Amino acid sequence: MGAHGTTGELARFSIAIPAELLAAFDAQIARAGGPANRSEAIRDLIRSSLVQNELRTPDAEVIGSLTMIYDHHTGDLTRKLDSVQHDYTAEIVSTMHVHLDHHNCLEILALKGRGERVYELADKLLGLRGVKHGELTCAATDKSLGR
Ligand code: NI
Repeated sequence: MGAHGTTGELARFSIAIPAELLAAFDAQIARAGGPANRSEAIRDLIRSSLVQNELRTPDAEVIGSLTMIYDHHTGDLTRKLDSVQHDYTAEIVSTMHVHLDHHNCLEILALKGRGERVYELADKLLGLRGVKHGELTCAATDKSLGR
């Protein structure tokens, strides 16, 4: 087993990625002082994604925050965002809306509930056209870990 938990044979694959995106990723690797190279950085991303997905166990109780940045002029995006949120009143503990500039809004949602519902809500909101940036940070509560 390697330093980062690599087991078994290494598989190689190639991916197509916009040059600009790759350059930004390389710059981030250089800054972070973490993983030494692209391969390790991508392995870390995949592991992180797998861990996050484990929290999608339907019955786990999770808490989290959802951050979104969007242009409120995009079609009927604000109405759709609002409409989705009204179907998850039990999971949305609190929201904060900041009008960043003429176009952009920042919205932060504090969430609590069954993993299935919380991730479903995040998927619906972040999947809407016009949401430029979105990130769900989630953690299982002690209850679901049996502590
Ligand atoms: Ni706004």
